[in-house]
Amino acid sequence: MATDADQELQRAKLRVEELRSQISYHDYRYFVLDQPEISDAEYDELVRELRQLEEKYPQLITPDSPTQRIGGAPVEAFGIVEHPQPLLSLANAFSEEELRAWHRRATGLAEADTFAMVCEPKIDGLAVALEYHDGKLAVGSTRGDGYRGENITQNLRTIRSIPLRVADSKIPRLFEVRGEVFMTKTGFERLNEERAERGEPLFANPRNSAAGSVRQLDPRATAGRPLDIFVYGLGWAGGGALPQSHWETLHWLSALGFKVNPHIARCESIDDVWRHCQQWGEKREGLEYEIDGIVVKVDDVRLHEVLGVVGREPRWAVAFKFPPTQRTTRLLDIGINVGRTGSMNPYAVLEPVNIGGAVVKLATLHNEEDIKRKDVRIGDTVIVQRAGEVIPQVVGPVASKRTGRERPFVPPEKCPACGTQLVRPEGEVMRYCPNPACPAQTFRLLAHFVSRGAMDIDGIGEQLSLALLEAGLVRNPGDLYFLNKEDLLKLERMGEKSAQNVLDAIEASRGRPLQRVLFALGIRHVGSETAALLAQHFGSMDALMRASVEELAAVPSIGPVVAESVRAYFRDRAHRRLIERLRRGGVRMEAEAPAAREGPLSGQTFVITGTLAALSRAEAEARVRSLGGVAGSSVTRSTDYLVAGESPGSKLEKAQQYGTKVLSDEEFMALLRRHRAG
Ligand code: IVH
Repeated sequence: MATDADQELQRAKLRVEELRSQISYHDYRYFVLDQPEISDAEYDELVRELRQLEEKYPQLITPDSPTQRIGGAPVEAFGIVEHPQPLLSLANAFSEEELRAWHRRATGLAEADTFAMVCEPKIDGLAVALEYHDGKLAVGSTRGDGYRGENITQNLRTIRSIPLRVADSKIPRLFEVRGEVFMTKTGFERLNEERAERGEPLFANPRNSAAGSVRQLDPRATAGRPLDIFVYGLGWAGGGALPQSHWETLHWLSALGFKVNPHIARCESIDDVWRHCQQWGEKREGLEYEIDGIVVKVDDVRLHEVLGVVGREPRWAVAFKFPPTQRTTRLLDIGINVGRTGSMNPYAVLEPVNIGGAVVKLATLHNEEDIKRKDVRIGDTVIVQRAGEVIPQVVGPVASKRTGRERPFVPPEKCPACGTQLVRPEGEVMRYCPNPACPAQTFRLLAHFVSRGAMDIDGIGEQLSLALLEAGLVRNPGDLYFLNKEDLLKLERMGEKSAQNVLDAIEASRGRPLQRVLFALGIRHVGSETAALLAQHFGSMDALMRASVEELAAVPSIGPVVAESVRAYFRDRAHRRLIERLRRGGVRMEAEAPAAREGPLSGQTFVITGTLAALSRAEAEARVRSLGGVAGSSVTRSTDYLVAGESPGSKLEKAQQYGTKVLSDEEFMALLRRHRAG
């Protein structure tokens, strides 16, 4: 007979499986399809429940559990993976003529007038191979020299669009999928901004930065980087029928849950292919990632055999390459922008130049050190690079074009916005304005706080940030959480509806994860990557605020400069006041619900919905936690009580559906009073 413990374990096992499928499904909706079905909070709730079960029953943890994406211990060095089938490269075509020449040759060899071809964006990242054994991701590797690559399985597991398992009964027992790991343009810009501030060498482009990121020795560092993948083919497979055309292969992979680029096209003629290449030459700017050409592949897989491979280049595919996006122009001057942390950010004023269809007048120069290292002088002819929406950058001077009239850049001694004497902390590459009330800093900080990767307060952009500061409605980001409609209506061109939208967006931002809150604070040297590490390690704002420099520096990947900067930030009273104001405004200060403490409500889960007369939601949740209860954000089968205030919405229906007990505002207050937490 099964004991109670056995039965409980059995139930937990079923629930764990159910949660894993649900989480994988929502990962797929979010990271592959970009069409989430549930809110972040509901998703967090599923992960939290799974984590709790896995903590209680560690024997149920498997490597393909979504909780195991991050967590691998740092690898000493990467092992070598022999590729059973080499990862090939591609012949290039730089013009229409070269493209047509490729087609003539291939059709000649295939003894056909033409054949169908598949066009895919050529993603500028790095090639990887993903091996699946019995539907589970077993080995992930780099291309290396095509025959032998590096084993980066642990790092690839952190990329959420890579399925850890594929659920389909008809898949081959063993197969290898190939694709390109890349970094989005905005992710790259952010990362470089952070590196510039820390005085670390900058990545030249998103491709290098993706390559650097997957080769981090600590998978946790990889996990903090905004990486993604597009899968573009099947390497090899054993056991099971496979599609006979490349087009079908891509659809098959997509149906299995892999992320295939949405801009693939099947063309019947080389004329169509050429039109497609031209179109994308113009449209590529609009993509969130960099592409440097279009890969054209013969669709019929049987023809691949016929056409064969010369050297390492298959004759059944070719890469049409777009013209380069670098041009030379004159550097007229170097200006300074004041950053959100008070850093002085130099930028180049250029003689306008057309690069890839857009006129470029300004470009970034990152920091003083960078200018010195590259020896860029005012008046120089410089190489400027632009790739899509990435801010154009000065690659370096063309020294041979110097006339002798060029002048070296002299960094300012005073803040251009407020006139305060600048400081340069020892060992740092940036100069800073130490005045916390510097108007340029206040503005930059607010604009950063509301921006997408930070608190993502939709509707408050740079313009509205400036208007709020100028009207005196907001003096620091904490003030945002105390704005009301009357305040907003005082602003020019602000109607009822937009005011409500702004308030709704502010409300939504209260629940952003701790790592975003930390990043939003604009602490010097704390970019999104570092913020994620800190949030994960300390778990709450309070714990982080209490941490000593030694404790901070003990966090993997956090160096002494960052540790000192975090400590200095929290030592400052103005910053502590800001945190308090954010907390009182209902902003989340914990990474996840803290481990429930023992109390009269231990083991019971509450969800608060609607408006309560006496408490804000955040306050009500804090009371529940103080009594040992768990405060959930969405109603699930394991919710014990739904506290329904005024206008409870859909959660009430869900509670009724599950038969969850519903407490009115008064009943809830009475319960708190009984336990002396009201
Ligand atoms: S197919 C024989 N498809 O380009 C087929 N490659 O120059 C070889 N790449 O190493 C690869 N996007 O890193 C293929 N849609 C795409 C691609 C792509 C980017 C990269 C890949 C490869 C390199 C070849």
